[in-house]
Amino acid sequence: MDSESYTVSLGNNNSEIRQKAESDFISFWDKQAKNLSWFSQWTKTLDWNPPFAKWFVGGTLNACYNALDIHQNTRAEKPAILWEGENGDSSVLTYKDLLDQVNKFSNALKSLGLKKGDRVTIYLPMVPELSISMLACARIGAIHTVVFSGFSSIALKDRIDDSKSKIVITADGGYRRGSVVKLKEIVDDAIKELDCVQNVIVFERTKIDITKNPKDKLWSELMKDSSTKCEPEHLESNHPLYILYTSGTTGKPKGVLHGTGGYLTHLYSTFKWAFDIKDSDIFFCTADIGWVTGHSYVVYAPLLHGATVVMYEGAPDYPDISRMWGIVQKYKVSIFYTTPTALRMFMKFGDAIPNSFNLSTLRLLGTVGEPINPEVWKWYFKTIGKEKCPIIDTWWQTETGGMMLSPLPGIETIPLKPGSATHPIPGTDLAVVDESGTEVPSNTKGYLVIRKPWPGMLLTLWGDDDKYKTVYWSKYENSYYSGDYAIKDEDGYFWILGRADDVLKVAGHRIGTAELESSIASHSDVAEAAVCGIPDEIKGEVIIAFVVLKQGIKKNEESLRKEIIKVVRNGVGPIATPEQIYFVSKLPKTRSGKIMRRLLKSIAKNDKIGDVSTLEDGAAVSEVQSAFDELKKSIKK
Ligand code: WT7
Repeated sequence: MDSESYTVSLGNNNSEIRQKAESDFISFWDKQAKNLSWFSQWTKTLDWNPPFAKWFVGGTLNACYNALDIHQNTRAEKPAILWEGENGDSSVLTYKDLLDQVNKFSNALKSLGLKKGDRVTIYLPMVPELSISMLACARIGAIHTVVFSGFSSIALKDRIDDSKSKIVITADGGYRRGSVVKLKEIVDDAIKELDCVQNVIVFERTKIDITKNPKDKLWSELMKDSSTKCEPEHLESNHPLYILYTSGTTGKPKGVLHGTGGYLTHLYSTFKWAFDIKDSDIFFCTADIGWVTGHSYVVYAPLLHGATVVMYEGAPDYPDISRMWGIVQKYKVSIFYTTPTALRMFMKFGDAIPNSFNLSTLRLLGTVGEPINPEVWKWYFKTIGKEKCPIIDTWWQTETGGMMLSPLPGIETIPLKPGSATHPIPGTDLAVVDESGTEVPSNTKGYLVIRKPWPGMLLTLWGDDDKYKTVYWSKYENSYYSGDYAIKDEDGYFWILGRADDVLKVAGHRIGTAELESSIASHSDVAEAAVCGIPDEIKGEVIIAFVVLKQGIKKNEESLRKEIIKVVRNGVGPIATPEQIYFVSKLPKTRSGKIMRRLLKSIAKNDKIGDVSTLEDGAAVSEVQSAFDELKKSIKK
């Protein structure tokens, strides 16, 4: 850990916030919730029936109303979305435009019979229609479930099926690095056997030819005569706003379910505290809306504040590595929020490229998704921020809804330490504990847990309360288990050390080992597969796969590798493509049949294998050792 620290003051010093939060976190959040517009007041601030939390019980509100309607008197003509297409197209939607479009689309959804509580899968590229679709669902109380448009048809099918969506919203195609991804075709493939889907709405982004099916409705036709008036539903605070699927270590992706009042309170507060948001700011978050960062900090949080958001459709390095800086200069971006992977990539190409752009409008720089290396942090601070912008390293998860650890220059000035996400946000209780749940001494590695409910926390996993309990609340009694390792230093700064479980983080994207392994094993020649991540200079982590072929398969390894990669791209998506595939005759397992991924990881990294008996319970040392020896012998690159 670096001992250097950097202090940048934005002139805010509101120590009262932390004091109030510490003295009574429930009345603290009660007060924060009043920053939103409610149709009716709640009767109970927190109903904590562990591990289920309900915030602002009985209060009614509407997320879309808070994002759009409340700004119509003061900001109707202010840009809400400044959209930049990958091919240079651009458009501006004011708060009035956005409300009109959302109302029209809400009415269109209603005309198709969609009701409060129904699910809608959204599979769109980064176009304003994605925000419009989400907000329209929120307006009528439908639950949106956005699937990242880089996921394959099989992954999409699983998610539509699990959520039993009635409507799927997609586009004819989306642009990615200059070529068109035929999204509508992928949807057609995904819904072939799904009876739940009644309609597919197709936004005409690329105008490529599509095959029209009886269930299809064109976006333009639905919108043509639709009215711009639609009353927002009055929804109870814990009415689900959305499901977002995320990966774990076992089984299928989990449907993280977020509510309304608590979630929005968390977003409103963290956006203000961490990013010091002002009416004059231009906010640019590079995340795709298909991930939680996009849900929370491209769509909901900025709109709650009436902020202007830059939304970019394409790849961050297309047509070249200067694209992001071109956007910052063109739109006079003042707050920029991106990932360590993107920064590592930019840094590799040197300072001359960003230095040739006018980045002087920047005043805050954020990072999220994976640990940021101190040298990358310093590069961001010096080369991009010219030492005048605080670096906001925000730690959180799909499940937490919003930021949980972050510097908060909107309320306080503290020295920043490169690589540390600093302190918990006010009103939350994070700790680093050992295996037994006891807080570890400072500077000791342990598990990051959350000891009190927080407003942005997930309600449950969609349709699976038991899984919700076991995944997050069974390792420790009364604490939420994050799955991350962390250290708290002598000054109370938190340092995230990466995942403690088998979840992969490739370029900041969360990829589940089980989903990936079963995809590889779906290849007809494969008997069994195991994957693990190893460190990578740019992506943080890359995927290594160990594959056991069925008996008697005598194919050329190179062509098999190609076939397996194709299977993965079709089964999960290009983001899950393994960097290397090793063919082995056996996988090391424990007596109970669990694959020892940690051992595989050590092998792939060429680390020394320590005492294998401690790696997994019940593992017979000799068994594992011989499997390992065989593995070492059989590994061929
Ligand atoms: C996991 C959650 C947070 C929204 C995007 C990712 C890792 C996230 C940081 C950070 C170190 C981080 C953790 C976490 N992570 N932010 N600032 N420093 N690690 O959401 O896909 O649910 O992934 O991302 O490992 O558990 P997600």
